[in-house]
Amino acid sequence: MLPLIPLLVVQFFLSPTFAVNFLYNSFTGIVNATDLTLINDARFDSSVVRLTNDSNQYSFGRAFYPTKLTMRSSSNSSALSSFSTSFVFSILPTIATSPGFGLAFVLSNTTSPPGALASQYFGIFTDDKVPTVAPLLAVEFDTGRNPEFNDPDDNHIGIDLNSIISETIVTAGYYNSTGGFVPVRMRNGQNIRAWIDFNGTSFEINVTIAPIGVSRPSRPTLSFKNPVIANYVSAEMYVGFSASKTEWIEAQRVLAWSLSNTGVAREINTTNFPLFEPESSSSSLSAGAIAGITVGSVAFVATCATGFYLYWRKSKLKDEEDEIEDWELEYWPHRFSYEELSQATNGFSSEDLLGSGGFGKVYKGTLSNGTEVAVKCVNHDSKQGLREFMAEISSMGRLQHKNLVQMRGWCRKGNQLMLVYDYMPNRSLNTWIFNQPTKLLGWEQRRKVLADVAEGLNYLHHGWDQVVVHRDIKSSNILLDSDMQGRLGDFGLAKLYQHGEVPNTTRVVGTLGYLAPELATVAVPTSSSDVYSYGVVILEVACGRKPIELSASEEETVLIEWVRELYVNGKVGEAADPRIRGQYEAGEMELLLKLGLACCHPDPQRRPTMKDVVALLVGEQAAATPADLLSELATGDRRISGDESEEVAPLNPPV
Ligand SMILES: *[C@@H]1O[C@H](CO)[C@@H](O)[C@H](O)[C@H]1NC(C)=O
Ligand SMILES: *[C@@H]1O[C@H](CO)[C@@H](O)[C@H](O)[C@H]1NC(C)=O
Ligand SMILES: *[C@@H]1O[C@H](CO)[C@@H](O)[C@H](O)[C@H]1NC(C)=O
Ligand SMILES: *[C@@H]1O[C@H](CO)[C@@H](O)[C@H](O)[C@H]1NC(C)=O
Ligand SMILES: *[C@@H]1O[C@H](CO)[C@@H](O)[C@H](O)[C@H]1NC(C)=O
Ligand SMILES: *[C@@H]1O[C@H](CO)[C@@H](O)[C@H](O)[C@H]1NC(C)=O
Ligand SMILES: *[C@@H]1O[C@H](CO)[C@@H](O)[C@H](O)[C@H]1NC(C)=O
Ligand SMILES: *[C@@H]1O[C@H](CO)[C@@H](O)[C@H](O)[C@H]1NC(C)=O
Ligand SMILES: *[C@@H]1O[C@H](CO)[C@@H](O)[C@H](O)[C@H]1NC(C)=O
Ligand SMILES: *[C@@H]1O[C@H](CO)[C@@H](O)[C@H](O)[C@H]1NC(C)=O
Ligand SMILES: *[C@@H]1O[C@H](CO)[C@@H](O)[C@H](O)[C@H]1NC(C)=O
Repeated sequence: MLPLIPLLVVQFFLSPTFAVNFLYNSFTGIVNATDLTLINDARFDSSVVRLTNDSNQYSFGRAFYPTKLTMRSSSNSSALSSFSTSFVFSILPTIATSPGFGLAFVLSNTTSPPGALASQYFGIFTDDKVPTVAPLLAVEFDTGRNPEFNDPDDNHIGIDLNSIISETIVTAGYYNSTGGFVPVRMRNGQNIRAWIDFNGTSFEINVTIAPIGVSRPSRPTLSFKNPVIANYVSAEMYVGFSASKTEWIEAQRVLAWSLSNTGVAREINTTNFPLFEPESSSSSLSAGAIAGITVGSVAFVATCATGFYLYWRKSKLKDEEDEIEDWELEYWPHRFSYEELSQATNGFSSEDLLGSGGFGKVYKGTLSNGTEVAVKCVNHDSKQGLREFMAEISSMGRLQHKNLVQMRGWCRKGNQLMLVYDYMPNRSLNTWIFNQPTKLLGWEQRRKVLADVAEGLNYLHHGWDQVVVHRDIKSSNILLDSDMQGRLGDFGLAKLYQHGEVPNTTRVVGTLGYLAPELATVAVPTSSSDVYSYGVVILEVACGRKPIELSASEEETVLIEWVRELYVNGKVGEAADPRIRGQYEAGEMELLLKLGLACCHPDPQRRPTMKDVVALLVGEQAAATPADLLSELATGDRRISGDESEEVAPLNPPV
């Protein structure tokens, strides 16, 4: 046998079950749907199957064996059929610390699970919690941590029964011959072999993994035994793989696959597999950029702590869903009824969906008196968590400013919280910079929107008796109202703290590319980390480029680094968005870019405050503007040659 064609496909009929027994030791030469059904972005990439497409912001892909496996010999039998499978996979992100999700081995009644999101949850689940019992069973090889789903870490294996919330979860690794647990990192590109044994008589699933080179461990990594499995397995099921991604590139590869429903899956020959390793060049992103990215993880406001959750479980009240609880009465002016919101949004119909993000979905609604609103649905794990969250949110309701998106009210149904905001007809700032070549925002409007946002943020930081840290400033959170006035939205992530008090939150929230570097180490968002994110928005708007552009050349990947380099070399004007050239005076643009860079100073103490920023953008020729200082800050400490010894005085000294 030629070693380079280790492909064997053997199928034959047995009565009454259709026997399946195949071994794809490589995907070379597998070119058509007879061999593998590829859905959406999944594709053959030389000898492997790639599940997602790097160039799409949201991407999902699935690869199924083309014929269904018979899982029940007759419909009145409770027993399921058994199978054994083994495969080799590799998960490799472009940026090691960016968020990613890994991949899932899937047993599904359909190749297109209804409601599956394109962006998250392996491309197979909705973000609803177990809406109906449908036949879908997955083994997740999850490389991201979603605390709201009880994920213990960002490297685990779980059994999912038609829900992203796993029935059981264990950290990835294997038990060696002496019974010691050896962790296995699944997100560094290494080739990992997995074995899954499914016993349909005893309703047991065993999952075992080990890096290539380690022989099959005798004790499985995970063992799940529960008759409930039967509810998620239909008479015939597709079997295969699925994965999804958001803006961060992560290559999920399947290198080999064997399966048998008549015995043990054939051994994969693990010699000669291609190797996938992190590109060394990614380490050349500067320390600041890495730090900015590190904090990562698509963290969510998991306001609930497990402890609270257990506490709540114990002391659970008589009723589950819709009873209004005492504490809810404390909160805030307008509580909408669920029926009211459901009616306003045509039953939360997908036609009224404005968008969906880490938090949940946002719908457009029209109240009975004709007022247009945006309804944001936020899922929550526990009522206790919800209560804390409400305490924060209700304070937010008291914030009023022309440059903030006004919150109108709220509603709770079960663990779902719905927040009602004013509807912003002209969508978010990023769409006017990136998505609409024909309706591009001009220079004057861009500058105006930046000034508006500065005022809104200044109000949050300084206009109130408490400092409100927004924590998720980014261009997609800046909305334009009917007069094209900029308004800061999404206070969902905001957290209040008293002036002078050190906040001790440990949850890092925010969006990669906008996060200040110090959040990597101290994880305490402050008003100056907001200023950093705002600085990124300035650069984004002035340059017409995203904060991190992975498709750009290496020097240009991280916007801040690129602009700063140009600035240090005296060519900052070249960073300006070429599409609005001629609309501004060079000096104005330069000042704005310098301001953006100064806001992104690596040292939080040296960043200007929002007061300084407003003075500069809105003020009357602001005499107070320390223009020289701004120039120095813009270098981010990379002094222009000659003045190395000079100390730069902090613009706003530590309090
Ligand atoms: C595995 O493949 C290599 C070449 O790719 C071959 O030399 C070797 O004999 C194979 N091993 C087995 C057990 O078939
Ligand atoms: C697909 O491949 C099989 C062999 O694997 C071949 O018999 C069949 O003709 C091919 N079909 C098409 C449409 O190319
Ligand atoms: C990724 O998707 C884009 C379209 O969104 C397509 O043009 C491109 O060919 C795809 N890339 C690969 C490698 O399939
Ligand atoms: C299962 O159903 C078939 C007909 O559909 C029937 O002949 C058989 O007796 C049933 N078996 C049991 C155990 O009920
Ligand atoms: C499974 O899919 C088939 C069609 O492929 C459908 O007829 C059947 O109702 C589905 N089963 C369940 C339980 O959804
Ligand atoms: C097994 O793992 C444990 C701890 O992980 C280690 O101490 C032990 O040396 C390992 N045993 C073998 C035989 O590799
Ligand atoms: C799962 O592993 C346990 C413990 O090693 C073993 O007793 C059981 O038979 C295994 N089940 C399957 C389906 O392989
Ligand atoms: C499944 O489990 C049952 C009961 O433990 C056992 O009798 C049977 O041999 C197992 N089947 C397979 C395929 O491992
Ligand atoms: C419509 O109703 C909402 C809430 O009930 C209220 O906030 C808003 O002011 C009303 N608008 C008008 C135009 O009456
Ligand atoms: C902004 O929205 C308002 C109200 O929908 C609309 O009249 C206006 O034309 C929009 N502005 C632009 C520039 O599209
Ligand atoms: C955080 O602050 C709260 C009170 O505001 C306190 O109860 C808690 O112990 C603090 N946690 C840590 C880790 O310091």
